[in-house]
Amino acid sequence: MFESLRNRRLYIQEVAPRDGLQMEAVFVPTEAKIALVDALSRTGLAKIEVTSFTSPRAIPALADASEVMKGIARAPGVEYAALVPNAKGAERALSCGVDELNVVMSASDSHNRANLRMDRERSLEHFDDIVGLARGAAAVNASLSTAFGCPFEGLYEPAQVLPWVDRIAALGIERLSLCDTTGMADPARVRALCMAVRERHPGMVLTAHFHDTRGMGLANVLAALACGIDRFDAALGGLGGCPFAPGASGNVCTEDMVHMLQQMGLDTGVDLPALLACARSLPGLVGHDTPGQVVKAGPSSRLHPLPGHPA
Ligand code: COA
Ligand code: ZN
Repeated sequence: MFESLRNRRLYIQEVAPRDGLQMEAVFVPTEAKIALVDALSRTGLAKIEVTSFTSPRAIPALADASEVMKGIARAPGVEYAALVPNAKGAERALSCGVDELNVVMSASDSHNRANLRMDRERSLEHFDDIVGLARGAAAVNASLSTAFGCPFEGLYEPAQVLPWVDRIAALGIERLSLCDTTGMADPARVRALCMAVRERHPGMVLTAHFHDTRGMGLANVLAALACGIDRFDAALGGLGGCPFAPGASGNVCTEDMVHMLQQMGLDTGVDLPALLACARSLPGLVGHDTPGQVVKAGPSSRLHPLPGHPA
């Protein structure tokens, strides 16, 4: 089924330092955040979302965004992104030299208001300002949150979401992440939206961003892959979640996703043992166990001695 993807490089985009740490109760010290990003930079990931330049009152866990962004050692070939909700955030991020501004709005009006304290029209005005600020300095990616459904309004059909994709495209934004913020998507819904967006905006560079809230994360990755999507957000250890969406939980786990894709013979560009070493450092940073599976079970290539035989 995935033979045609065998000679294509997939883009694995790590979001734990942003989507993951924004949700944590503990404030991970700035130096530890920098060390985590630096270790991730050495694993072959295509992109790392380093932090978000949001109101420190809204997201206290990432109040040190500028220090982190300025403190990391940039590895050649890795793109360094930051989430920004408004022009003020974009100015702060650009002053730290980010490669990509990840602007965010929700397909759902309720979630946009809960998360960003503004309506969707106001978010689009910010996008327009940000595109102007970024010109020549950074790329712009738009993350469309709750693209498959929202905890306040329920599931969405593509027809409810496509007008917002059109509005984003009309601003000249060529990169788009379809974000399943609270794990509402299923593989059929993923296929319907991905195909509809691809058909309408064939030039758009699409990323699939799934949360594993209801155990459908990796199934949704495969559904997106089958639509030809080759960029995937995921979070180390399966951290992640939106503090302004009830019931939100972790992203698809990066090391589990990379393990699956590599098992399928696909090229992720990622050094799995190096990624697993990063994942093993997480409980020490966040103070709890993480949902990742492969870090506990080991890769499926790991063999165990037969019981009763010396190791
Ligand atoms: N960076 C730093 N400070 C910011 C900021 C930014 N990007 N945007 C606004 N602020 C500050 C303002 O300067 C103001 O500070 P003051 O009270 O000291 O004067 C304060 O925040 C309130 O500004 P206002 O424009 O009224 O914002 P708000 O309170 O309506 O909040 C957002 C709007 C978008 C700034 C805020 O909701 C936010 O940052 N949300 C991010 C949510 C998020 O990241 N969710 C998870 C990822 S999807
Ligand atoms: Zn997310």
